[in-house]
Formats: sequence, C-alpha cells, structure tokens
Amino acid sequence: MLFMCHQMAMKKEAVAKLKAEELRRAQSASEIPIIWILGGPGCGKGTQCAKIVEKYGFTHLSSGDLLRNEVASGSDKGRKLQEIMSTGGLVSNDEVLSLLNDAITRSKGVSKGFLIDGYPREKNQGVEFEIRVAPADLALYFECSEDTMVQRIMARAAASAVKREDDNEKTIRARLQTFRQNTNAILELYDAKTLTINAERDVDDIFLEVIQAIDCVLKKKQQKAAAQC
Ligand code: AP5
Repeated sequence: MLFMCHQMAMKKEAVAKLKAEELRRAQSASEIPIIWILGGPGCGKGTQCAKIVEKYGFTHLSSGDLLRNEVASGSDKGRKLQEIMSTGGLVSNDEVLSLLNDAITRSKGVSKGFLIDGYPREKNQGVEFEIRVAPADLALYFECSEDTMVQRIMARAAASAVKREDDNEKTIRARLQTFRQNTNAILELYDAKTLTINAERDVDDIFLEVIQAIDCVLKKKQQKAAAQC
C-alpha cells in the first residue's frame, strides 16, 4: 500500500514537472511570433512563405517538406508516410507534431519567428500544438477556388524537373477532399486569430496583405514586451 502511494506521488510529480516544462517551453517560444499558414493544396502557402522568409527572416517549417524529408530518408517510417500521402489523406498528428516540435526546438534561440506551413490541418492538430509547443499568434488562411488550386498544381508539376508523387489529378482531388472536410472546423475554432486572404490575385498583391498582418503581430509583441519591462 505504502509502495503504491509512493509510486502515485512519483507519477504526480513527474506529470507536474512535464507540465511545468511544457509551460516554460510555451512561454519562451511565444516571445517570437508563431504563424500558422493555412489553405488548400496549391493555394500558394509555400510561395508566400518564401516571401515572408525573405522579408522577415523567419524560420519556415513546412509540414509537407518535413514529411517528404522523412520519406526521402528511405526509412520504414518514411515508406508508411508515403503510402498515406499518396492517398491524399492526413498523416497521424503524433508524427507531424513531433517533426515540427523537433525542428522548432533546434531553431529556438536563433529564430526570429516561426511559419508553420500546412498546419493545423484539422482542429485537434491546432489544439495539440498550442498545448505542446506554444500558442499561435496568427493564422493566415489563403482562400482559393478548387479549380485554381488544381490548375496551379498541374502547372507546377508540368514545369518541375522532379514531380511530387502526390501531384497527379487523382491525388489532388483526394487532397482537396481532405481539405474540404477539415477546414471549416479549424476556421471556426480559430476565428479570432485568423486572417482570410483572397489568394486568387497576383502574388505581390497577396503579400501586401500578409505584410500588414505580420507587422501588426510584431507591433503587438513589442508592446507586450515593453509593458513587461
Ligand atoms: P503539403 O506539402 O503541405 O502540400 P499541400 O498543402 O497540398 O500544398 P502544396 O505544397 O502543394 O501547395 P502550396 O499551397 O504550398 O502552393 P505553392 O506555393 O507551392 O502536404 C502534402 C501532404 O503531406 C498532405 O496531403 C498530407 O498527406 C501530408 N501532410 C502535410 N501536412 C500535414 C499535417 N499537418 N497533418 C497530416 N498530414 C500532413 O503554389 C502552387 C503553385 O502555384 C506554384 O507553382 C506557384 O508558383 C503557383 N502560385 C502560387 N501563388 C500563386 C498566385 N498568387 N498566382 C499564380 N500562381 C501562384
């Protein structure tokens, strides 16, 4: 009995430590902006992220790229991920979030801000991210019609020397369906921190709106930091 009580106390202490560590990590990560980049396949998430990186020097973490790196490693895990990705479905959040978390941890201390591209893709991903990593400051949702998204991906596939395995019409349709099923719930849950941007315009026009939103976040962070001094 005494032994069981001791074990339970140890477990409680371990949980409390873990929570304190999560909180500490969340607080230190939240000193710099964390921005989620949302939108359907081919809406232009990666294109806008490249421009944000150029202007603000943020760290760009694309969930799709992290997963493709794992696939490229040729590991057993990579093979399983590839199977899911080629059906247009979602990989388990444990996989995606641990890849993101590791990448964030590696860049913490040197990063000026994080762009989390292609995440969350369903609302529980967002909830888990904010518990395990840090609260997001802003979500940019690039809204685009399905026809435009399909056209853009097909054009990208035709132009690139190395074609992505999931850039074929059948998988694109499945990716769109996955997107359709999950996105409204994300937008509803994170309405207060989401800016919807019309992505059916010129890349630079879209970027002007992106800049306004990011500048606003940076200003708020600076004001908050100044108030804490
Ligand atoms: P991921 O790699 O994230 O792919 P995606 O969301 O389908 O998006 P893309 O990378 O294809 O497009 P993009 O929006 O970045 O557009 P881009 O800028 O390239 O995910 C792949 C798979 O990984 C998923 O299906 C899933 O299986 C898995 N996965 C990823 N994240 C996950 C998660 N969180 N949970 C579980 N599973 C996950 O632009 C496309 C083209 O359009 C380019 O050629 C570009 O030049 C052009 N373009 C861009 N903007 C414009 C514009 N304004 N006008 C004209 N052309 C434009």
